[in-house]
Amino acid sequence: MRVGVLTGGGDCPGLNAVMRGVVRKGTQEYGYDFVGFRNGWRGPLTGDTMPLDISAVRGILPRGGTILGSSRTNPFKEADGVRRIKATLAKEEVDALITIGGEDTLGVATRLSGEFGIPCVGVPKTIDNDLSATDYTFGFDTAVGVATEAIDRLHTTAESHMRVLVVEVMGRHAGWIALHSGLAGGANVILIPEQRFDVGQVCGWIDARFKVRYAPIVVIAEGAMPKDGQMVLKDGSTDSFGHVRLSGVGEWLAKEIERRTGKEARTTVLGHTQRGGTPSAFDRWLATRFGLHAIDAVRDGDFGKMVALRGTDIVRVPIEEATAKLKTVDPALYAEAGVFFG
Ligand code: F6P
Repeated sequence: MRVGVLTGGGDCPGLNAVMRGVVRKGTQEYGYDFVGFRNGWRGPLTGDTMPLDISAVRGILPRGGTILGSSRTNPFKEADGVRRIKATLAKEEVDALITIGGEDTLGVATRLSGEFGIPCVGVPKTIDNDLSATDYTFGFDTAVGVATEAIDRLHTTAESHMRVLVVEVMGRHAGWIALHSGLAGGANVILIPEQRFDVGQVCGWIDARFKVRYAPIVVIAEGAMPKDGQMVLKDGSTDSFGHVRLSGVGEWLAKEIERRTGKEARTTVLGHTQRGGTPSAFDRWLATRFGLHAIDAVRDGDFGKMVALRGTDIVRVPIEEATAKLKTVDPALYAEAGVFFG
């Protein structure tokens, strides 16, 4: 049995830990061979491979990023995409493909296994934690840790200058990072894409905070939107899955706050620091277990499935379940945080 592995979409701390789990168990216990496809779906499209044996995965457990490289290539947007992927898999004598990715990469895997008979097993990753069918994706805990540390640090500088500090975190359609880091970091306002915000109300919370002689921290997800406005885009560009580039809502909000309250406001955009660097212990644990269970699914011939965390168990679910519906923040959960606003 020869197994191909690829990592697609935005990178995420823990990708290497998954590969290590897959390759160690697959080689040691099942005697399988592996080949790595470089840069997401571009690897099987162009035949770009690298060796993936035990020596290739030694020492990579704590390393961020992905040794295979990643991309947002969409094979269904490429001329002759499916035929080219099939040809590469045949040439490389690959019997099964483990695809580690988020909504887009797994969406491609769903179609390739369902419509075109390519034996795929999925592993869910995204720092955004917005995949349904799994309680958590790896990478999320690390991103929340980075954002929480930043908020902790911003409290003291905000108070020294009695300024408003707006912290923009990732989260295109789901506010999980904003909600978890905002609660953990003691933010005074948390704004998420799931619920449009009222700038007047935000300014009210800011004024209230200054009255108790502390400077407010506002955590805002990049996809959050004002009640009477639009998503703030970085520029007009889109990737091959049609996603627009975000970032800028934090800066926009800081200007509005200054204009309406007369208080000085600054913005910190955490951006890719949330995705880079070493995975947290939780993410290493989850990613490793996903890897071990993904290779078990291959051994069982259980294709078209994705490994998922349910409580503390790793289970297998149809890949399309992961991508059918975005997992967004429940309004009741968001409302819980409201007691700390202002
Ligand atoms: O992985 C998803 C994500 O973290 C989104 O929250 C964000 O909009 C996007 O990645 C940005 O990724 P990139 O800069 O690589 O396009």
